[in-house]
Amino acid sequence: MGIVKNICCIGAGYVGGPTMAVIAHKCPHIKVTIVDLNAERIAAWNDEDVNNIPIYEPGLSEVVQSARGKNLFFSTDVEKAIDEADMIFISVNTPTKTYGLGKGMAADLKYIELCARQIAAVAKTGKIVVEKSTLPVRTAEAIKNILDNTGNGAKFQILSNPEFLAEGTAVEDLLHPDRVLIGGDTDAEGKKAIDALVEVYSNWVPEEKILTTNVWSSELSKLTANAFLAQRVSSINAMSELCERTGADVNEVARAIGMDSRIGSKFLKASVGFGGSCFQKDILNLVYIAKSYGLNQVADYWEQVVIMNDHQKQRFAANIVKTLYNTVSDKKIAFLGWAFKKDTNDTRESAAIYVADELLNEQANIAVYDPKVESDVVYRDLNYLDTRSAEQNKLGVSISDDPYTVCKDAHAIAVLTEWDEFKAYDWQKIYDNMKKPAFVFDGRNILDGDKMKDIGFIFQQIGK
Ligand code: UDX
Ligand code: UDX
Repeated sequence: MGIVKNICCIGAGYVGGPTMAVIAHKCPHIKVTIVDLNAERIAAWNDEDVNNIPIYEPGLSEVVQSARGKNLFFSTDVEKAIDEADMIFISVNTPTKTYGLGKGMAADLKYIELCARQIAAVAKTGKIVVEKSTLPVRTAEAIKNILDNTGNGAKFQILSNPEFLAEGTAVEDLLHPDRVLIGGDTDAEGKKAIDALVEVYSNWVPEEKILTTNVWSSELSKLTANAFLAQRVSSINAMSELCERTGADVNEVARAIGMDSRIGSKFLKASVGFGGSCFQKDILNLVYIAKSYGLNQVADYWEQVVIMNDHQKQRFAANIVKTLYNTVSDKKIAFLGWAFKKDTNDTRESAAIYVADELLNEQANIAVYDPKVESDVVYRDLNYLDTRSAEQNKLGVSISDDPYTVCKDAHAIAVLTEWDEFKAYDWQKIYDNMKKPAFVFDGRNILDGDKMKDIGFIFQQIGK
């Protein structure tokens, strides 16, 4: 297939956008075009002011600025981009199915299939198709079937190249990855395709960090990596509840076990629960695959990671109600943070949504501040749950871009995201303007407990 000169990526989201921007930045000799059905999103990527691009990630604007208009392009003309490319990345979303067989568990592959059909219809010459989206094992086979049976006879090679970037550190993760994983067919043609993609990454990634495997191993490794990471969070969160009952401090426990080199210190931060577009979706996907092979014990083992996470979110909300004398009806609860973690404006599966939902059921008034999340996103997230009408959500939830306004006259504050700026607030001022007694529930264990108690707050953290 030779050396890649023209790359197209379908899907200008949290994965496709940053990944392609970094490829373009590091490979000035490759033309990279990112296409998306969503015209508004493409317009935002093309915004003259590079700070208005639709995704917030530290360092991303600079990388986009360096390549945009030179060898990095954003467009809605999907067919043209497919036609011109010799390598096509598929980076569209694969949400959990909300209907039919596998509802609530299996990944919905309809967007992937649409992409495959479109590539088949448009492509006149052979192409390498790269799965970037997290996909259940053996999806490549389905893509290949569609391409081979609906196309014009052009030859396709399918590679799996899962993304391991974490939001909030996407640019850094892409520039200095722990490893790059490329799965492909083991025959000669497959190997050539793998080499073509290895060549792209080797423009900035050391060769020993580029791992090549067969397609199925690559697909399954992505699900496995996320399942293992999520399992660590659920494991430490399970211990956090035990710590609260027994007087142990989960931060101390995490530190003690993290120093064991066999365990390591990362992903041991107790929290109100993990969120994000990947963990829950990928584990449910794994559960579904295990079940479909009749491996019920395997399925139950992994499903418990998600059950534990749901429990953690639910008990955080229940504890607020219980602590506020068993009623939050008509009380103002201030939310600091709505994003699923700091340094991103992504809110998918954020714990804040579920905590808000529980508290709205208890008739609380919720006021939200998040430094990067737009107010319509907060309402969209709540409306999507379908627990109550859009009007009711509007009535129950207010949003402000000033944290001090959000906390004014509140009975309690819940910290849902670990944004650094929260630590630097004038907490005395916040305390003075709250209803008394003033409660703070730190769902991310980021605030200084002694200082908060000295000011007069009734202060609680996870696992303490
Ligand atoms: C998504 C998944 O969440 C992740 O699991 C997977 O690994 C990669 O895809 P993300 O980039 O975060 O990651 O999704 P999102 O921000 O929703 O971006 C997907 C984009 O694809 C959207 O902009 C959507 O408009 C676009 N899209 C979707 C198309 O252009 N065509 C389609 O047919 C479907
Ligand atoms: C994850 C994987 O890390 C990444 O490799 C994969 O490609 C996509 O999914 P992401 O969803 O962006 O990335 O975020 P991540 O940093 O993994 O955090 C996930 C959730 O776990 C967040 O809600 C975070 O706050 C929570 N978390 C993480 C904890 O509660 N405690 C921890 O110690 C670590």
